[in-house]
Amino acid sequence: MNNPSSGKRLIDALTDRPVDRPPFWFMRQAGRYLPEYRKVRAQIGDFLEMCYTPTAAAEVTLQPIRRYGMDAAILFADILLIPDALGQKLEYREGEGPVLQPVRDGAALAALKPERIHERLAPVYETVERVAGALPDGTALIGFAGSPWTVASYMVEGHGSKEFQETRLWAMRDPQGFGALIDVLTEATIEYLSRQIEAGAHAVQLFDSWAGVLSEDQFTRWCTVPTRSIVGRLKLRYPDVPVIGFPRGAGSKTPEYAAATGIDGVGIDTTMPPRWAASTLQATVAVQGNLDPLAVVAGGRVMEDQARHILEALSYGPFIFNLGHGIVPQTPPEHVAALSDLIRDWRTS
Ligand code: CP3
Repeated sequence: MNNPSSGKRLIDALTDRPVDRPPFWFMRQAGRYLPEYRKVRAQIGDFLEMCYTPTAAAEVTLQPIRRYGMDAAILFADILLIPDALGQKLEYREGEGPVLQPVRDGAALAALKPERIHERLAPVYETVERVAGALPDGTALIGFAGSPWTVASYMVEGHGSKEFQETRLWAMRDPQGFGALIDVLTEATIEYLSRQIEAGAHAVQLFDSWAGVLSEDQFTRWCTVPTRSIVGRLKLRYPDVPVIGFPRGAGSKTPEYAAATGIDGVGIDTTMPPRWAASTLQATVAVQGNLDPLAVVAGGRVMEDQARHILEALSYGPFIFNLGHGIVPQTPPEHVAALSDLIRDWRTS
């Protein structure tokens, strides 16, 4: 048979195989909008500790799958585990988000310990093993990491930001010094994702949440080039494991990013017109996206009309239905159920 199914819709969509309907999953599908997540979170208390507790992390990874039967589970972890494992001080403060001891010069960079990351990250690999062993056969497990640029932006600023001025200034004034940080992150990310794949992840995603703040040449240098290194090295080791890139906010730079990095799928955010994505991207890569997370808060006709608009534009090429960014905590769980049913009932043939 030509191109037989892998047995997983998500993998089929990423590897040019036919699917009966588009696979779907939702960014941040494990999270505070689910009462069963809040229960586990309250028991453990600290978010970082939850990421490093395999039984809890595996449980919350599986919760949305049990409720909604998505085609993929995404490992429960966080993109800032890499700075934490490198030895940078990190805490998550209630209502404030992550706070880190900033890394802004060569001395702070030299104090990081790349050779020690797997000691700290071992529980994450155990979570992957547990989830891979517990998922239904047709459901894929997505491993993930932040992209070097986005992770670096938190490391340098010390917290979330809208402009990332410290990071962009360091990159402009001292590209070699900043490039050394990007190189450390690139190597750590390759090793981290490799271990996730060895532990049982069927695909991996790189979150470049802050790719959208960069000019053309800076975007190429700090987003596209490191992503290409990561994808190239993973492909040498694991040629059959698809890689999804999500350069949020990349807009018209996305086609070049998709072609140059060698990714198999590209995430698009809510601002990208689905028809434009179909015509400029689907000949090269599978497209993943891009319903506004707030449409799922609104629910009803608003959500359904926007979801159908996306399905009509994108489901006739390689496509994975997702949101344009993560589910927000105030999302009613029953709206996620209605959206899942709508996608499950969609037929492309
Ligand atoms: O369900 C999933 O998608 C898997 C788990 C996941 C989390 N974070 C859990 C999480 C994934 C894939 C991420 C990625 C992540 N983390 C990104 C990239 C995607 C994006 O949203 O742009 C970024 C930038 C982070 C960093 C981060 N983690 C921030 C800024 C925050 C605080 C904001 C917030 O939502 O509270 C976190 C915490 C975090 N990561 C939570 C979850 C479920 C909330 C923690 C809690 O329970 O209080």
